[in-house]
Amino acid sequence: MIIINHIQELQHHLNIAKSNGKTIGFVPTMGALHQGHIELVKKSISENNITVCSIFVNPTQFNDLSDLEKYPRTLENDSKLLAAVNCNIVFAPEIMEMYTQKELDLKIKNIEDKSWTDGKAVDFGILDKVMEGAQRPGHFNGVAQVVSKLFRIVQPNKAYFGQKDFQQLAIIRSMTKQLEMPIEIIACAIVREADGLAMSSRNVRLTEKERSIAPLIYKTLSAVKEKAHTLSVTELKSFAEKQIATEPLMQLEYFEIANAETLEIITELKSNTTAVACIALKLGNVRLIDNVVI
Ligand code: PAF
Repeated sequence: MIIINHIQELQHHLNIAKSNGKTIGFVPTMGALHQGHIELVKKSISENNITVCSIFVNPTQFNDLSDLEKYPRTLENDSKLLAAVNCNIVFAPEIMEMYTQKELDLKIKNIEDKSWTDGKAVDFGILDKVMEGAQRPGHFNGVAQVVSKLFRIVQPNKAYFGQKDFQQLAIIRSMTKQLEMPIEIIACAIVREADGLAMSSRNVRLTEKERSIAPLIYKTLSAVKEKAHTLSVTELKSFAEKQIATEPLMQLEYFEIANAETLEIITELKSNTTAVACIALKLGNVRLIDNVVI
């Protein structure tokens, strides 16, 4: 496995591989890797000749500066985990390798930078307005900005994303389609701890007490899935809200049931539409999200 910090060097390696007919699988991450990421890398390795994993804590997708500062950075350990599963290339650029000063200045001034669309009229419709989009203004623009940059640099055949970030996945699919990028987006199932907590780089920031409470999130979502046959959407929402309210350390941001494809918030479950129940909450100082398809 090689660790590369510069775009030119990465592209040199990839151009040789591509000219030899090799396929490229890509797993973009912000590091602080856990088993969920490793499953993405393993899937990429099984489906491609070369797997590139990027590790870059992207400043433009954080709307809270303290969240950006607190984001765990564990490059050495991440590299060990990736080497252990035979990942081929780790791409770990510095900020100035990925962004111009002008782009960073726009972020500092809170001005949404749309230059990543390359002049195309990219429109996410409601995908970036509901749930995470409503709670974290500018977040998905920052995600699309960095993922489009990474896609242009790596130009992979396939890219792998976890379903825990359900809305992010919808945004990336939409972005790839609208920018006409010939990349297959592969969604991978959420990886959970034994007690059901969805794996997340933020979990390490939970105190022992908070960690012991955290499984209530998946317990609630599982109960919602089970009750979806008998309760209305309004009743399911009220059930979930009451469950989370039993735990004073949890502050619910939203619980919504949405159309799994369009992400429209739905008020009625229909047998011909797949729905997804999405939740976001603060547990102490740590913001957690999760979802189940129902
Ligand atoms: O899911 C993440 O870790 C990030 O949002 C991503 C896709 C790597 C972009 O920074």
